[in-house]
Amino acid sequence: MTSQDLIQEIQALKAERNAVILAHSYQRPEIQDLADFVGDSLALARKAQEAQCDVIVFCGVHFMAETACILNPTRTVLLPDTNAACSLEQSCPAEELEAFLREHADKNYYVVAYINCSIGVKALADVIVTSGNSQRIIETAPADRPILFVPDRNLGAWTARKVGREMTLWNGACHVHERFTRDKVLEMKAQYPDAEIVCHPECQEPIRLLADHICSTEKMIPYCKESAAKQFIIATESGILHRLRKLVPGKEFIGLGVEKCSCNECEYMKLNTLEKLRNCLRDMAPEVRIEEELRKRAELPLQRMLDLSL
Ligand code: 13P
Ligand code: SF4
Repeated sequence: MTSQDLIQEIQALKAERNAVILAHSYQRPEIQDLADFVGDSLALARKAQEAQCDVIVFCGVHFMAETACILNPTRTVLLPDTNAACSLEQSCPAEELEAFLREHADKNYYVVAYINCSIGVKALADVIVTSGNSQRIIETAPADRPILFVPDRNLGAWTARKVGREMTLWNGACHVHERFTRDKVLEMKAQYPDAEIVCHPECQEPIRLLADHICSTEKMIPYCKESAAKQFIIATESGILHRLRKLVPGKEFIGLGVEKCSCNECEYMKLNTLEKLRNCLRDMAPEVRIEEELRKRAELPLQRMLDLSL
């Protein structure tokens, strides 16, 4: 079967199931091209909440599909590959966070959780943030309580500096963004001296210090459109390059590679394929299911974020 046949089959199944396909910007180009909507974690959470159709097929990783279930519990949410995990989610198990909060109960932490975490962690948080709104949300945090930021130490450190507020940071990281090295940035900058370096805040500080601009995947699009530069070295997962090339024609986008490799992929994001997407619509599985009591607790900090980032 050709990929064109597969795409036609997916379109037919999508209509039959009354489904919408949401895809993160790190998905494979062919998935982005057939999705009804492509975006970052924040935009996808909003789209999932607004979805009117019966089925949401989430082409992203598990925590994103779980977030769709939390925000729109009456829909069926499908994830083409249930192994699509996230190293940030894995770096902060809910039981460990719960134990930490118990141990430090005297501090009365205001818990800010990056959306890249499990439903259990969301349920323990006061508010959720994404890389696109962390600054804005943390500016509204109560001034009289210390902030605990979980799970990403890089996004946490970057936001703390932007907001000018100290925070206790959980020691978690995204293994994809942490693979970038300062040497590789310098090597590529020497190769493309006119290029601007645009990086995601999940990158480590030495990379952030060399960047011309730091922002979420979604904000990279208007930034690159409006910048006078014609060439950009992009320090995030390679999937965004497809979107940038499509939406910002006439400019050149070069992915920041890792040592001995020109490409940087999230193996979890890339688990979703056209074939698995077809299979999940055909079989109505794998379906993401969550427990109602936990859902209600996780919905509160998520909704708080959505209300604050209007
Ligand atoms: P954004 O979608 O918020 O840019 O985050 C990137 C990411 O790593 C998602 O897993
Ligand atoms: Fe998680 Fe990093 Fe993959 Fe994003 S790129 S899904 S943060 S492992």
